[in-house]
Amino acid sequence: MNSSLTLILVAGVVLFLGAGFLFFSGTGPRKPKKVIPANQKRYHDDETLEGPVLTKILGWSLIFTFMLAAALPLYWLTEPQRQVSFAEKYNHNAAERGKKFFADAKEDPEGFGCATCHGGVKGGTTRYVLLSGPEEGREVTWTAPALDDIFYRFSRDQVHDILVYGRPNTPMPAWGLRGGGPMTEQMLNDVISYLESIQTDPETAKQNAGGGQGLSGQKLFEKNCARCHTQGWSYRYPDVTWNKPVVMGPAGGGSFGPNLRGSVTRQFYDPADQVKFVSDGSQFGKAYGQNGVGTGRMPGMGKILDEKDIMAIVEYERSL
Ligand code: HEC
Ligand code: HEC
Repeated sequence: MNSSLTLILVAGVVLFLGAGFLFFSGTGPRKPKKVIPANQKRYHDDETLEGPVLTKILGWSLIFTFMLAAALPLYWLTEPQRQVSFAEKYNHNAAERGKKFFADAKEDPEGFGCATCHGGVKGGTTRYVLLSGPEEGREVTWTAPALDDIFYRFSRDQVHDILVYGRPNTPMPAWGLRGGGPMTEQMLNDVISYLESIQTDPETAKQNAGGGQGLSGQKLFEKNCARCHTQGWSYRYPDVTWNKPVVMGPAGGGSFGPNLRGSVTRQFYDPADQVKFVSDGSQFGKAYGQNGVGTGRMPGMGKILDEKDIMAIVEYERSL
């Protein structure tokens, strides 16, 4: 709209000037001008060329040199700020696009519905049919974790991997093309930038994890670890559509994350190593404990739990 208006204005001005030119140049008799071609004109003699002309040219060069000398530091001074504000704008735009992808499809036609299961970003629930085991075919209500503290637990690359492949055997689908999902690399990066932009402050993240409140090791384990390390934890709530209670494995008996019963004391001879592992999480391809090889799927808890909390959890784990 704006640009077409500008185009019409420019066209109008050009037409006006053109008409004026034709009008004035067309009036009165034309006198043919005698034009001498440039190569037949007499140019300055040597005296003038090497005298005043040279001085004039050198004078201009000096002025331009000073201008360059002044411009370079100015450029050097403003460049870092320009780069920073460009990066900010770039990230902001990525997060804006990611916000659309994250939305419920009913709210945004481009939405992939992350918000529907994840309760916005605060965590929610979704219906899911168990695909195997003694309760195969049973529909359960599965808890989807909050995502506004995800970067306190995982790195950007690790979140990227979770999104590409999803979490098979849970309601979390694969989103990346490599995992068989619908989203391109750019879309994934946009969604991740959006998630980065809505992370809660460290105090709230810690509060939500129950950190620094003197909770028992068992309570902290149930809040932060059981969903991955205890079978059935995420859908343990009694389900009214079913007449039998949900079958749940023993606490810490393993599901997506390994069985922690007994195995933990084998893996971490020294409890201090275990505290460090739970604090840092695992890294893809990096060794941990005595025989462990990390995949990057075990989150690091050190940013949202105090060392005292983690020590309490480790004690609880070693008692299982
Ligand atoms: C059909 C429901 C559903 C949809 C849609 C969905 N998720 Fe999930 N997501 C889940 C569930 C359930 C889990 C937890 C799985 C488990 O128990 O390990 C999860 C886990 C995750 C995790 C790992 C969190 C953690 O702390 O372990 C991330 C990150 C995530 N989802 C991001 C997304 C994004 C981004 C989208 C949209 C592109 C999305 N999810 C769409 C249900 C869903
Ligand atoms: C998002 C799922 C998830 C959560 C939440 C999680 N873990 Fe893990 N954990 C894993 C996975 C997966 C592994 C296997 C290592 C790997 O793949 O890198 C693991 C490995 C471990 C191990 C090493 C076990 C072994 O025998 O090798 C310990 C100990 C452990 N986790 C403790 C914890 C504690 C304590 C918490 C809570 C504070 C916790 N985990 C939360 C997924 C999780």
